[in-house]
Amino acid sequence: MRLNLKKVFAALAFVVFFWLIITYSPVMEVPRPMFRKGSNIGDIEKRILKLEKEIGTQSSEITRLLDTVKEIQKRKSTTKDEMYEIQVLERLKNEQGRLLPPPSNPVLPVLVIACDRVTVKRCLDNLIKFRPSKETFPIVVSQDCNHNATYQVIKQFTDADPSITVVRQPDQSEVVLPRQKIKFRGYYKIARHYRFALNHVFTTLKHESVIIVEDDLDISPDFFEYFLGTYPLLLNDPSIWCISAWNDNGKRDVIDLAHPELLHRTDFFPGLGWLLRRESWLELEPNWPPAFFDDWLRNPENTRGRACIRPEVSRTYSFGKVGVSKGLFFDLHLRHMQLNTQFVEFTKLNLTYLLKENYDEALTQAVAAAQKMSADEVMTSRAPAAGAVRVPYMDARSFQKAAKKLGLMDDFRSGIPRTAYFGIVTCFVRGRRVYLAPNFNWSQYDPSWQ
Ligand code: UD1
Ligand code: MN
Repeated sequence: MRLNLKKVFAALAFVVFFWLIITYSPVMEVPRPMFRKGSNIGDIEKRILKLEKEIGTQSSEITRLLDTVKEIQKRKSTTKDEMYEIQVLERLKNEQGRLLPPPSNPVLPVLVIACDRVTVKRCLDNLIKFRPSKETFPIVVSQDCNHNATYQVIKQFTDADPSITVVRQPDQSEVVLPRQKIKFRGYYKIARHYRFALNHVFTTLKHESVIIVEDDLDISPDFFEYFLGTYPLLLNDPSIWCISAWNDNGKRDVIDLAHPELLHRTDFFPGLGWLLRRESWLELEPNWPPAFFDDWLRNPENTRGRACIRPEVSRTYSFGKVGVSKGLFFDLHLRHMQLNTQFVEFTKLNLTYLLKENYDEALTQAVAAAQKMSADEVMTSRAPAAGAVRVPYMDARSFQKAAKKLGLMDDFRSGIPRTAYFGIVTCFVRGRRVYLAPNFNWSQYDPSWQ
C-alpha cells in the first residue's frame, strides 16, 4: 500500500511537471534556428506564417511612412487631370484653414527699447527710412537708464515728427541683488524696463498689438510688410502667440537665400523684433519675471505651449556688440547672421500654410518622405543634391553633435533647440533642405537637456 502511494505521488509530480512545461514553454521560448534538422515543410510554413504575423503588427509605422512616400511619388507622375484634381483638393483644404482678411486699418506701433546707447539713431533712421505709413506704424521709444546724451538723440526725432514719441522708464532705483547675482544686474533692469514699456503701450496708450525692437537692431526693407502680412496669422490662429523677424539659425550657410518669402513655425521664442498682442500681454504680465525675460518666454509653461512664426531669412540684424551679454556671443554668432535684402510682398501672399492644421501635417509628411542621412554625409556629399534629407538624433548629445557639424546653434532653453518645432530643426545646407529630427514617436521636449 505504502509503495503504491509513493508511486501515485511520483506519477502526480510527473504530470504536474509536464503540465508546467507545456503551459510555460511559449514564455520560455529561446531563439531557435529557422530550419531545424528534421523539421518538415508544414512546420516551416507555420513558423513563417507566425513570423509574418509578428512583422505585420510591428510594421504599421513603416507602412504609414511608405504610403506617404508613395503618395508623393504619385503626385510627381500624375497626369494633367489628376494634377488639377490635387490642386482643387488642396485649395479646398486651404479654404477650411482660411485666414480672415486683415483688419481694415490696423495700427501696429513700433516700440523701441532704448537705454544708454546714442546709436539708437541708427535704429530710428532705418525705421523711418523703411516705414510705409506713419499712421499704421507710429513709433514709441521707451528709454531706460536716464542717459541724457541718448535722450537728446531721441528728442531730435520726436521734435521733428509727431508720429514718434518718447517715454522714460521712471523707476531708476538700483536693483538689490545678492552678491552672486550682481553680474546679472543688467538682465534685471531689462526685464523691469520691458514690463514698464509694454504696460505703457497696452494700458496707457491702449494699443491692440505692438512690434518690439531693441535699440541695436537693423531692419530689412520689408520689415513692416512682413509684420503687416503675418498679422492675420496672429489674429486667426490661437496656437500662435508671437511673430518674430529673427531666425536663430540665420547664418548664410544654413538658410535658403533663394526663398526669402518662406516662413516657419517655431516652439523657440526668437525675440529680436517681434509682434505681440495685447491679449497675450495681459496673460503674461502678472507673472512677468524679474530677469531673463526672453528665456522665461521660452518656457512653454509661460506661453501655454504656443508657437511663434519666424522667417527663413532674418528681417533684423543686431549690431550691438557692446551690450549686456558682452561681445562673445556677438563675435561667435550675431556678426554672421544674414539680414534679408529683398522686398517680399507678404500682404499679397497666401500664408495659410502656416496655420497649425496645415503646417503640422505638411511638415510631418515632408520629414517622413525625406531620405535619411547623417550630418557628416550632408557635409561631404558631392553634388549639392536635390531632395530633402532627415538627419536623425536620439538625445541631447547626438543633437548637439549633428547641429555643430551642420553649422547650427546647439544650445537649449527649457529643453528646446533654437528654431525647433516638434523637436525638428529645419535648415538649408549645401543646396538642400535638412530636417534635424528626433524619432517619429517624439512627444515632448525634455527640460533636462541643457
Ligand atoms: C540679450 C538679448 C536681448 C534681450 C536681453 C534680455 C540678443 C542679441 N540680445 O541682450 O534681445 O532682450 O538679452 O535677456 O540675444 N536695456 C535697458 N536697460 C538696461 C540695459 C539695457 O532697457 O539697463 C535695453 C537695451 O537698450 C536694449 C535691450 O535692453 O534694447 C537689450 O540690451 P543689450 O545691451 O542690447 O543686451 P543684449 O546682450 O543684446
Ligand atoms: Mn543687444
